[in-house]
Amino acid sequence: MNMKYHIVTYGCQMNLHESEKIAGILRSVGYEEEAPPEEADIIVFNTCCIREHAENHAFGNIGALKKLKKEKPWLIIAVGGCMAQEPGKVQFLKQKFPFLDIIFGTHNIFELAALIERKRREKRVISLYEDRGETEDGARPFRTSYPNAWVNITYGCNNFCTYCIVPYVRGRERSRSAEAIVEECRALIREGYKEITLLGQNVNSYRDGEVDFPALLDRVASIEGKFRLRFMTSHPKDFSARLVAVMKKHDKILNLLHLPAQSGSSRILALMNRRYTREEYLQKIALFRREIPEGEVTTDLIVAFPTETDEEFEETLSLVREADFSSAFTFIYSPRTGTAAAKMEGRIPEAVAKARIARLIEAVNENTRRKSEGYVGREIEVLCEDYDEKRGLYLGREPLGRMGYFASENNCIGEFVRIRVTQANGVSLYGEKL
Ligand code: 5AD
Ligand code: SF4
Repeated sequence: MNMKYHIVTYGCQMNLHESEKIAGILRSVGYEEEAPPEEADIIVFNTCCIREHAENHAFGNIGALKKLKKEKPWLIIAVGGCMAQEPGKVQFLKQKFPFLDIIFGTHNIFELAALIERKRREKRVISLYEDRGETEDGARPFRTSYPNAWVNITYGCNNFCTYCIVPYVRGRERSRSAEAIVEECRALIREGYKEITLLGQNVNSYRDGEVDFPALLDRVASIEGKFRLRFMTSHPKDFSARLVAVMKKHDKILNLLHLPAQSGSSRILALMNRRYTREEYLQKIALFRREIPEGEVTTDLIVAFPTETDEEFEETLSLVREADFSSAFTFIYSPRTGTAAAKMEGRIPEAVAKARIARLIEAVNENTRRKSEGYVGREIEVLCEDYDEKRGLYLGREPLGRMGYFASENNCIGEFVRIRVTQANGVSLYGEKL
């Protein structure tokens, strides 16, 4: 009987990509296919700890496996990633879930095969590494996101935004070598991938000797072949005119900028240690719009940071209109133990936070709706990435990130398809294949 695996991923694209690496490792040690939890011989949780909600979600799902583990004592349950790396969390995990077999962190995914081997001899295997500044993990990802491919360019973060736990669980920022990145991208294009997303907590501070982020982007975009190139995430403080110039130079680089603002209030931004003001943020947006008027900006926003007043929240609302974001990830501030903001006074009551986020979401949706409606009647090119069984339609993204749905007689996953948009619904567009 062949052995099967199941991976549960929480969090960001970095984690999604790391789960591809975990799948690659599992396949290299004899787990042959992905399967639902009941049929799996190993279940790996790749966790996130950016907000309390992400953790609670994982706790619920891990706890639910206790019964399955009783029925199938050979089942291996592993918990890894950001939550496991959080200071003090291992103790908690051990106590709360005594049936866990393996616990590993963010710095030793490459060790997973050895940990599984050790589990054959030991009751429970726990291995966490300190940040050792590694930039190559040696893992060959088993990619599941065709025609898109993620490529790491930096790991970790040095910014220490006061609300954020990432620098504590992912370590100091380090950049992979430009050679290794370009080579990986070249191989992916050769294999037929059509979209590459360069990943880093703060791509703009990438540096390998003389090669900074604009130079790296220029090199990757110069690889031959038809493909789309995107990157995330940019920190506004490092977003430069040189980067915009490179974006403008290459058609392959999508005119899509994800630039987390976090707040529209300069006082709150200072408390967050973001190192830019509202005005400076808007200047960066103006620079982007001047050079690339057809481009779109998306963002991340946090409401109810400690001491945020109604007026300061209103500034975030007005930023949504002024910066004209096409969409945004919106969050209620969640205190994370060990971060500077967790010690700040002036917590905002939950009811106030909920009312603020509801208004914020409405403001963002208004932008999204308006912009999507502007697409009706237009021709767009989508990169077909999947088939939606429920709708009976193929789907793919247009260059500015909206999902386009369309009917097709033949399987066109991985192809660039031109469609005429007939209807818009939120971020989704519906159209006819041309
Ligand atoms: N509470 C709420 N949102 C947070 N983010 C990061 N840390 C927190 C926190 N403690 C948000 C930021 C970041 C995104 C990935 O998650 O907006 O850009
Ligand atoms: Fe967290 Fe700030 Fe680093 Fe982003 S830039 S990962 S929000 S500390």
